[in-house]
Amino acid sequence: MNELKTFSNPTEVARAAAQHWVSLNPKTVALSGGSTPRVLYELLADPAEPFRERIAWAKTHFFFTDERHVPPDHPDSNYRMVNEAMFSRVSLPAQNIHRIPSEEPVAQDASEKYEIDLRKSFGEAIPAFDLILLGLGEDGHTASLFPHSPALRETTRLVAAPWVEKLNAYRITMTLPVLNSGLSVVFLVTGASKAQILSEVIKTDKKSDLYPAQAIQPLNGELVWFVDQAAAAAQPTTPQTPKPSTTC
Ligand code: 6PG
Repeated sequence: MNELKTFSNPTEVARAAAQHWVSLNPKTVALSGGSTPRVLYELLADPAEPFRERIAWAKTHFFFTDERHVPPDHPDSNYRMVNEAMFSRVSLPAQNIHRIPSEEPVAQDASEKYEIDLRKSFGEAIPAFDLILLGLGEDGHTASLFPHSPALRETTRLVAAPWVEKLNAYRITMTLPVLNSGLSVVFLVTGASKAQILSEVIKTDKKSDLYPAQAIQPLNGELVWFVDQAAAAAQPTTPQTPKPSTTC
């Protein structure tokens, strides 16, 4: 099932996504980075909100869809963002946090170490996360799968460390085999700056090399877009269901 859900603002998007999270009661979660999901993470950990007590933190294992090639205390670190917004505010066994070892001097080494962690945690099969959170870049990238990235063609490795020319940096990212094995894959997209790309990604036929977010087509799971009105502004007024992929 592919679904697009529109809410009035980023807080309402986060609230709906939090409701979705607790309704799934996921035991394995892959967290996205960037700025958009921070509101959700803060909401989940907020004792004044109804979500924190409904999450089995001690039974949930947290992974990351991608990471910047920086140490965990760096301002650009996705781990640091999630730790500040959520992990540090709830009681969670340290072994439940599967951080990408992005302090490794060589990004490829961090990627290989993370693949070992995934295979140790899920066995040899391609991990099927209960819940995967993703964002959408203004260029159509998701996780750290950027347009025309060789990582988009990865079919066996679970993690890759692509060089991203426009960022002049390496990134470490889960690959499509993992992202498309998720049971519930959720895009969080907010803000007017995403309106054009969201409409491109949803309405145009699959050009995933140009718009990697279009390559997210769960094989045995649901795909749900939680967006705000500003991001949905370029959508046709008639309710639109994201185009199912023509090729798997
Ligand atoms: C990252 C993310 C990336 C992000 C998009 C959207 O590490 O940056 O995983 O894929 O989701 O770039 O970023 P914003 O939420 O900041 O717009």
